[in-house]
Amino acid sequence: MLVSAKEMLQKAKAGHYAVGQFNINNLEWTKAILLTAEELKSPVILGVSEGAGKYMCGYKTVVGMVNGMLEELKITVPVALHLDHGSYEGCLKCIEAGFSSIMFDGSHYPIDENVAKTTELVKIVKEKGMSLEAEVGAIGGEEDGVVGKGECADPNECKAIADLGVDMLAAGIGNIHGKYPENWEGLSFETLDAVQQLTGEMPLVLHGGTGIPDDMIQKAISLGVAKINVNTECQLSFAAATRKYIEEGKDEKGKGYDPRKLLAPGFEAIKETVKEKMELFGSVGKAE
Ligand code: 13P
Repeated sequence: MLVSAKEMLQKAKAGHYAVGQFNINNLEWTKAILLTAEELKSPVILGVSEGAGKYMCGYKTVVGMVNGMLEELKITVPVALHLDHGSYEGCLKCIEAGFSSIMFDGSHYPIDENVAKTTELVKIVKEKGMSLEAEVGAIGGEEDGVVGKGECADPNECKAIADLGVDMLAAGIGNIHGKYPENWEGLSFETLDAVQQLTGEMPLVLHGGTGIPDDMIQKAISLGVAKINVNTECQLSFAAATRKYIEEGKDEKGKGYDPRKLLAPGFEAIKETVKEKMELFGSVGKAE
């Protein structure tokens, strides 16, 4: 059964580790992430962007697929199904469809409007026993049409949003989605420290997990990050493994064109990436 992300993230924050949010795109992605979490006894969050939701034929299809897998694969670790960078309307749709967690990305609204909309959603998700992530300070880069430039959040605005009763808070600290440019200045630990000092126990969320050096990840966890989002890195490892299979001409040998064979190297590559991240984030064994 899907669970809210609230409890797993409170435990992570108290235990000084982070739970990975891995974005899903299709059946192979979802199966690879769930099996790895189960093998490593790690809690996990499946992220679904609005674009990926559309691609997978809508949120109800996603909920049906994930719930079916939890049962058929006998998954026992805590799993949250989470809307990533949701619009207000998208949040309402996911609540209706049976997600267990949502992110409302109000970072592009003036702070008053972000506060008003987040307040409304806090009320709804509390009634449903779901968890809610809010965002302050846009995350840079481009993800499914959501574009930001890597701002640093205002710690006082973070406190204002945290006090509304959200379960986790994404604060921009110079992080961006996708690959980091050569001249990237790195994460602003000064901002992160200031945000944590004002928001206390609140689990903080680090978006744009792809390509952040390991030592920065560990430092971010030590400063209160309890959820780290990874998307592009699984896409890159899937693409590289699939490319290798085709370039080696394996799709032309025997029944190598069978999608169950053709997609297998990419599937294994996602499993390997998720494993590396869970080990780095320290979530391995935390579901036992
Ligand atoms: P990356 O694609 O950079 O890993 O970012 C993922 C993310 O933050 C999803 O919200």
